[in-house]
Amino acid sequence: MTRLIRGGRVVTAADAFDADVLIDGESVVAVGSGLEADDVIDASGCLVLPGLIDNHTHLSMPFGGTWSCDDYDTGTAAAAAGGTTCIVDFCIQYVGGTLADALEEWHGRADGAAHIDYGFHVAITDARPEVVAEMERCVAEGVSSFKVFMAYKGALMVDDEQFLAVLEQTGRTGGLVMVHCENGDAVVRYQKEAMEAGNTDPRFHAWSRPPEVEGEATGRAIRLAEWTKRPLFVVHVTCEDAVVEIQAARDRGLPIYGETCLQYLFLTVDELARPGFEGAKFVCSPPLREKRHQEVLYKALRQGALQGISTDHCPFNYSGQKELGLGDFTKIPNGLPAIEHRLSLLYDGAVRTGKLSETELVALTSHGPARIFGLDRKGTIAPGYDADIVIFDPERTQTISAATHHMNVDYDPFEGWEVRGAPRTVLCRGTTVFDDGEVVSKPGYGRYVKRSLFAPPGRQPVPA
Ligand code: URP
Ligand code: ZN
Ligand code: ZN
Repeated sequence: MTRLIRGGRVVTAADAFDADVLIDGESVVAVGSGLEADDVIDASGCLVLPGLIDNHTHLSMPFGGTWSCDDYDTGTAAAAAGGTTCIVDFCIQYVGGTLADALEEWHGRADGAAHIDYGFHVAITDARPEVVAEMERCVAEGVSSFKVFMAYKGALMVDDEQFLAVLEQTGRTGGLVMVHCENGDAVVRYQKEAMEAGNTDPRFHAWSRPPEVEGEATGRAIRLAEWTKRPLFVVHVTCEDAVVEIQAARDRGLPIYGETCLQYLFLTVDELARPGFEGAKFVCSPPLREKRHQEVLYKALRQGALQGISTDHCPFNYSGQKELGLGDFTKIPNGLPAIEHRLSLLYDGAVRTGKLSETELVALTSHGPARIFGLDRKGTIAPGYDADIVIFDPERTQTISAATHHMNVDYDPFEGWEVRGAPRTVLCRGTTVFDDGEVVSKPGYGRYVKRSLFAPPGRQPVPA
């Protein structure tokens, strides 16, 4: 069947222009005028954007004795409602386990449940030699990126020896290493200091992980990547201290890349000081920062030091999950719900205010992540690409609330925010998955995407 999106303004990472989009089956086949099709979708007054890619999500992630509360059904439905048509989720190796076991488990969760397309990164938490050897098989199966954590000591953290082993192995197999940059030893020291002084409330989560802790780890990670001659992607960059390290590395010509996340552009550390235990709703790592860091992040996004804005969606209910940390902030599960609101918030809060252009918005939420993470058929609207498309109404208003959002979590960090601009219709591979406020896809429509190896846009892969 052919479908035509008629009368909208197409925005890609390069251009914005009035055009119709013709879809045949799962793919875009033409962009232009005078086109006809079996089914016509009127997009007048709307922007027609490539579906967003969220390369940083944690669905049903084990953390601190509990699990993030969106699974592949609810999490991808919420993503679709917000204009995201593909996620790359973190598959976490259990300490002592294998990467194959982890991947089998994550495939089992996603298969038959996802509303939109998905891929996996593997987070390596226990880089034993036989585990490092498994990376080759992962790449062959389309898992072309590997994350290591420099924080969460005693749980997910690897030491520098293990980090180096993972970097070196990508020199043989190809693939991109992603890194969570916080000095995990320093965090433990500050956590102990706070708890011993009786400082147990959520504010001390941020106090124990200051920007210096992120900046130091970012600089160290970059040095290890430089030493091993490997590209590196720094996840969830929050602050000037980290941006300075990434910018300096790029100025030295190194293939260092990075992202920030929605929450760091819109929320500040002040949220952790909400009355009672409410601040726990805003506990994530690295923590929210002072407002001044937001301008640094926007500048880094505009000038190319950072190439993406993801969500790091990792939701925990306030009731019964965040509350695990009552009286001990170190036990608050880390993470925020954010998968649903990225496009609307960025359009209203960044594009409308002139902090980002429409094309930068697409570059940072779709095209850039597609190229960096090897999603070869996604990230733009052009013949031959998947028909992953958002028809976005810039005038549609919404008030964000846990009462109406699609995420399976009992609060919303943006509760009560009034936003102008919302997806009207969302297509994933030519099929409508969200329309006029309703998720209309069935669980299982979403398909696993094998990703190709990282190659910097327009350049050859870094030689091993
Ligand atoms: O607080 C966060 N970010 N939770 C998810 C795990 C991670 O570090 O990405
Ligand atoms: Zn992380
Ligand atoms: Zn994360």
